Amino acid sequence: MILKACIFDLDGVIVDTAKYHFLAWKKLADQLGVKFTPASNESLKGVSRMESLGTILKSGNITLGQQEREELAAKKNDWFVEYLNNMSANEILPGVIAFLDDLDFNHVGKAIGSASKNAGLALRKIGLADRFDLIIDGTMVSRAKPDPEVFLKAATGLRLPPEQCLVFEDARAGIQAAHNGKMKCVGVGSPEILGEADLVIDSFSNINWMAVLKLLNTR
Ligand code: G6P
Ligand code: MG
Repeated sequence: MILKACIFDLDGVIVDTAKYHFLAWKKLADQLGVKFTPASNESLKGVSRMESLGTILKSGNITLGQQEREELAAKKNDWFVEYLNNMSANEILPGVIAFLDDLDFNHVGKAIGSASKNAGLALRKIGLADRFDLIIDGTMVSRAKPDPEVFLKAATGLRLPPEQCLVFEDARAGIQAAHNGKMKCVGVGSPEILGEADLVIDSFSNINWMAVLKLLNTR
């Protein structure tokens, strides 16, 4: 199958915001007296804000009403947005710009498929808002990864069948979402965590589109 477009997750793939989500959740978990580690954070990656909060509350055996949960989620988001507002282009992850340039050179489409409602703000902060043909973010979907909705919407927007789109993800839930949508997926990060992906790269440094195609086909 010929791949004609790439759909990128944002946090932890294009820009180093995954650490800010972690720090903001950690601050909230500390206030709630719930143990929260980088390992427990893995299951929150790619997952919506309210679902992430639900996971933290559950691990601390805390039951709260809807209003209180919304207040806590808003608190976490305020801290996260504060980090975003101080962010600049130097937090774009290594090799990303060159990879996007290479996709342009090869006439490969580019979209964002992110669960974050802050995706637009983050992209503006790093100056990449105009680099994608299409941005699907958390304000446009109702079902969180591993549901494939966000990636299927991106494929539809790109006017391509899902099989012609390749997803890049740093989260297990995201890899599952891609596969649930019948898309191949490149994991960006550690093979121990992202082993379900069709290919795992540690970053976009030293990789180009032709190399990705070659590696995918040789597996
Ligand atoms: C991304 C991140 C998650 C985050 C989610 C919602 O998928 O990986 O860590 O919880 O977006 O982000 P938001 O900015 O809407 O709270
Ligand atoms: Mg991510």
